[in-house]
Amino acid sequence: MRDILVFYSDFDNYSQWKQLLQRELPDLDVRRAEDIEDPSQVRYALVWKPPIRFFHRWPNLELVINLGAGVDALVSRDDLPDVAVTRLSDPNMARMMAGYVLFAVLRYAREIPFFERMQREAQWCYRHPRSPETLRIGVMGLGELGKRAAEELARQGFSVAGWSRSPKRLEGIECYHGLDSLSAFLTDCEILVVMLPSTPDTRGLLDAERLAALPRGARLINVSRGDIIDETALIEQLQSGHLGAATLDVFAKEPLEVSSPLWGMQQVLITPHLASVALPDSAAAQIAENIRRLRQGKPPHHRVDLQRGY
Ligand code: GLV
Repeated sequence: MRDILVFYSDFDNYSQWKQLLQRELPDLDVRRAEDIEDPSQVRYALVWKPPIRFFHRWPNLELVINLGAGVDALVSRDDLPDVAVTRLSDPNMARMMAGYVLFAVLRYAREIPFFERMQREAQWCYRHPRSPETLRIGVMGLGELGKRAAEELARQGFSVAGWSRSPKRLEGIECYHGLDSLSAFLTDCEILVVMLPSTPDTRGLLDAERLAALPRGARLINVSRGDIIDETALIEQLQSGHLGAATLDVFAKEPLEVSSPLWGMQQVLITPHLASVALPDSAAAQIAENIRRLRQGKPPHHRVDLQRGY
C-alpha cells in the first residue's frame, strides 16, 4: 500500500514542502488533494486551514499535522478524525516571532512613529530616549513563542512581566498567572504584547474593561489571534486615546475588511498575519521524524491536546 501525505495550504509553498519531505522520506508520496486517485492511501495530512469536510475524504488517516503553531482553526471544526493532531514546534519559528515582537516593541520604545512624523515635516525634534529598564512590557501568553519573545525583551533590558493561565517561572521576568491577577498585571503595562493561543478561555479575554485597565496611552501589539481582543472595544479605545497605538498582525476576521476603521488610523500598524510563518527548511525534519515514529508505532512529538485547545 502507498503511503500518501495530503498537503493543503493557501499560503505555503507546496513544491518546497514536497521536495524537502521527500528528501527526508524518499518513500513518502506527497500530493495535493486533487491529485489523489485513491483516498484510502492517504495516511497523513499536512494542512493549514483546509476547507470544511476536507477530512471526510481520507478514511485511513493516522496523523494530522497543523502547518503552523496555532491550532485553533483545526480544533474548532467538526470533521477532524479521531487521530493524533500535531503542530509545528520550531525554534526558528519562535525566533522569527521574537524578532517581530522585538521590532514592534523597540519601534515604540524608541518612538520611531513620532520621528517618522517629524521627518515628514522636516522637523529636528529631539526627544531624549528612555532607558529600557524604565519601560514596562507585558507579555500575555508564555508558551513556546511567548516565552522566547519575553526572554528577548528582557535581554534588551526592558522591565518584562508575563501573564499565563498556569504558573510559570522565567528568569528575569515577573510572572503572573490566572484571571485573578490579570488586572494587576495589566495596570502597569506600557506596552502589551498578546501571544496567547485562541481557546474558549482566551477568546474575547481582552474586552473593553480589561483594555481599560491598561495605563492611558498604552501601546498594544497582537501577534497571536485577533479574536482574543474585542476588536470594537480596541477601535473605540484607540479613537478615544486610551490606547496610544497598536501593531496588529492578526484580526478577528482575515483578511481585515476594507471597511475597518483600523486601516485609516495613523497610530495603527497593520501587517497581514506573518509575524511568524512555517519554515520548510527547519520544520520538514520534525514532520518527517513524526511520520517515522508513527510507522514504528511510537507516539508523535508536539501533539495537540484537543480538549485544552493548544
Ligand atoms: C500562525 O499564525 C501560526 O499559528 O503558525
